[in-house]
Amino acid sequence: MGLLLGYALGAIPFGLLLTRFSGGVDIRTIGSGNIGATNVLRTGRKGLAALTLLLDLLKGLCAVLLATKYLPGGEILAAAGAFFGHLFPVWLQFKGGKGVATYAGILFGLFWQGGLVYAVAWIGALLISRISSLSGLVAALSAPIAAAIFGHYELVALLSACTLIVFWKHRSNIKNLLDGTEPRIGKSKS
Ligand code: G3P
Repeated sequence: MGLLLGYALGAIPFGLLLTRFSGGVDIRTIGSGNIGATNVLRTGRKGLAALTLLLDLLKGLCAVLLATKYLPGGEILAAAGAFFGHLFPVWLQFKGGKGVATYAGILFGLFWQGGLVYAVAWIGALLISRISSLSGLVAALSAPIAAAIFGHYELVALLSACTLIVFWKHRSNIKNLLDGTEPRIGKSKS
């Protein structure tokens, strides 16, 4: 049940819905084609991008908090469901987002210290590099490390898998980073 609850929430493609219902553009046809906040920002609509970031994070957090309240013991499955729902939504033929914001949400729900470490790594890397994908990758790396440091050994395997999948989802970004062509925030991506 926890897995299903998480998946149902995680599979809501907020970036796609918000952009489509506020002007008709299909976010998958611009920029990187991703449905996440970074690509929504490329429409020039900062408020919509911030809302996408917030809602993608909140769906992960809500999945874990709802499971904690109503499905005790199902928190980890709910977290996994929300994460995989965002990355592989049935509504979009399993072509979803890259997971960075939803990852933050599940971490805050599972153990707030992990969410905090992730947020600091994410924002810190963003302030230094101004490259969204690089910042997301740095944050994703911090999650299993934080779980080990704070003694949440039961989460290390799941979070390591999530981090690996985030890297796999960012493979085109990683190629661009290595080529030196990954755009910084505020620069367009063709
Ligand atoms: O969270 C997604 C971000 O890390 C990269 O997005 O659109 O530049 O591929 P994008």
